[in-house]
Order: sequence, then C-alpha cells, then structure tokens
Amino acid sequence: MKKLKRIAVLCSGGDCAGMNTAVRSVTRTAIYYGIKVFAVAYGYQGLINGELTEFNRRSVSNIMNRGGTILKTARSEEFKTKKGRAKAIRNLNKYKIDGLVVIGGNGSFKGAYALCKECEVKCIGIPGTIDNDINGTDYTIGSLTAVEVALDAIDKIRDTITSLERIFVIEVMGRDCGYIAMRVALAGGAEEVLLPGVKYDINKICHEIKAARKKGKISWILVVAEGAGSAHNIAKTIEKKTDYETRVTVLGHIQRGGSPNALDRILASRLGADAVRLLMEGESDKAAGIVANRLVTTPFSIACQKKQESEEELYSLLKILEA
Ligand code: F6P
Repeated sequence: MKKLKRIAVLCSGGDCAGMNTAVRSVTRTAIYYGIKVFAVAYGYQGLINGELTEFNRRSVSNIMNRGGTILKTARSEEFKTKKGRAKAIRNLNKYKIDGLVVIGGNGSFKGAYALCKECEVKCIGIPGTIDNDINGTDYTIGSLTAVEVALDAIDKIRDTITSLERIFVIEVMGRDCGYIAMRVALAGGAEEVLLPGVKYDINKICHEIKAARKKGKISWILVVAEGAGSAHNIAKTIEKKTDYETRVTVLGHIQRGGSPNALDRILASRLGADAVRLLMEGESDKAAGIVANRLVTTPFSIACQKKQESEEELYSLLKILEA
C-alpha cells in the first residue's frame, strides 16, 4: 500500500462547536505520524480556489476550546457541479494531496461521496453538525454543546415565563431532525414538543393549555423543531384559540456558537485521530463515527441518508413528567 504523505483538512457547511478541536486532532495526529498537513480555507469553495496552507503543530495551538472554525467554512454551490469538483481535484493534485478529511454534515458528506467517485484521493468524513442527523453515528460533533446552549437559554426563559404567567413557544434549530428539540424539551421541563415528521393537533394542545390553567398551571413551554413548523404561526394560533398571552423566542444561530463542552471535545479528538488512522490504512469513501462509545465507520452512501431514529421513548417520558 502507498504510504500516506500529505493530507488536507477542511470544514464545510454550518459551523459547530468542536470543529476546531477536530482540526487540531487531525493536524497533530498526522504530524505525529510524519504526514504533512494542509489546511483548506472556506471548505470546498477554498479547495476550488486553491486556498491551501501548510499547518504545523503550533498552527492549532489554543483553539480546542474555541467555537466556530479557524479554517472558516462555506456552503459551495460550485462544488455541487462536476466542473467545480474538477477544479478542486486539480488543486488536490497540484498540492500532491493523497488524503482528504472533510469535517461537516449531511451536505458536506454528499460532496465527499461525489468527489470519491471522481478522483484517486482518499477521503474520510468527520461528522460535525449541531443537527445530529448523520447515519451511522450516535453523536455528531457540536450536537451535545448545542443542546446545552439551547437548554441554558430555555432555563432563562423559564424565569420570565413564571414571573409573567405566559405561554412560550421556543423554536430550536436542527433542520429536518428533532434531536435538539426533543432533548431540550425533556431536559428543560417543557410541556410539549413538536418534531419534524410527527403530526400534532393544535386544538388538542390548546385544550390541554386551557385545562391546565383551570387546575392552576399558569405557564407553559412548547418547544418547536425548526423542521416542524414556524414558531410564530403556532404562537399566533395558540393565542387566538386560548386567549392567553403567548410569546415566541427563536433561538437561531446562538445554538451553533460557544465553547465546545467536554464531551464534544473528547469526541472531536477521537474522531480526528481516527480519520487519520483510517487514511493511513488506505480507507476511503467513509465517515468516521461513534456507536455505543466505539469508533466505527459508515460508507458515505449510507451516512448521507436520512437518520431514522424514534423519539417515542423520550416523548412519552416528557408527557409523564409534565405537571
Ligand atoms: O445544519 C446546521 C444548521 O444550523 C441547521 O440547524 C439550520 O437549519 C441551518 O444550519 C442554518 O443554516 P444557515 O447558517 O446557512 O442559515
């Protein structure tokens, strides 16, 4: 097998806490094994534009606790085209890269999958997205921190809800996945959660709110996953049907920022090192991941598909625990 000599690393798509930790791990593991590392700025777009810089061990000092990504990231439309990918491949060849590490989510892995079919360069993905929607891994880097950030916000909202006795609709991110919504709803003591692809009856929810108020329950938290509907529309309907003051908070991009928590840092460090190990062993066209605390790999073709995970158990628990 040809010895791995030069690798490139990039972050692609939405940033998340822990991407820097993964870049650090990839860089230092590779250099440890005598492999040269090239950092690509602005994800696939930077690969197309030839924005590669050689990194040394010090290039990644003091970044493991920082949110975002020092490499910068982008969503590249050009890379979705064969012509765009051909430009990227030319740059990989120009820099004599024989292994590429892609840190990103679903869209980034789709790009890596297409790239693998069109060039000889080996490619391994590291799941990094707050959405936790990648098949073949229990967790994606950033998702654990995002839950903590959103939960901290919900705890603060609870202070004002109980003081003013209101109904609150809180929208969280996650694209088509209800991972963040379900966890913060349970951990934040919400009364209801709306998840993508799960039908709900707004009349039933309004009836529950009114019935609870009659029993003396004056505040109510409804968490909505962004893929399940608009928090503003849902709040308008609730206010109209119940006549109770209803407010909305859309947590938005705050969930992508902040210092990665300990679990995300450990995960990013492990997956970063494993990505390098896989490339050294000649593996390609796969995403690194973790299942039951063990390092695993999943072909890009499967990792890109929609994650099928039932939230039924957590949802039933939420309904048991509400007052
Ligand atoms: O995929 C990560 C994510 O934060 C999603 O949860 C969200 O739907 C999307 O990115 C937002 O993208 P942008 O930052 O481009 O608005």
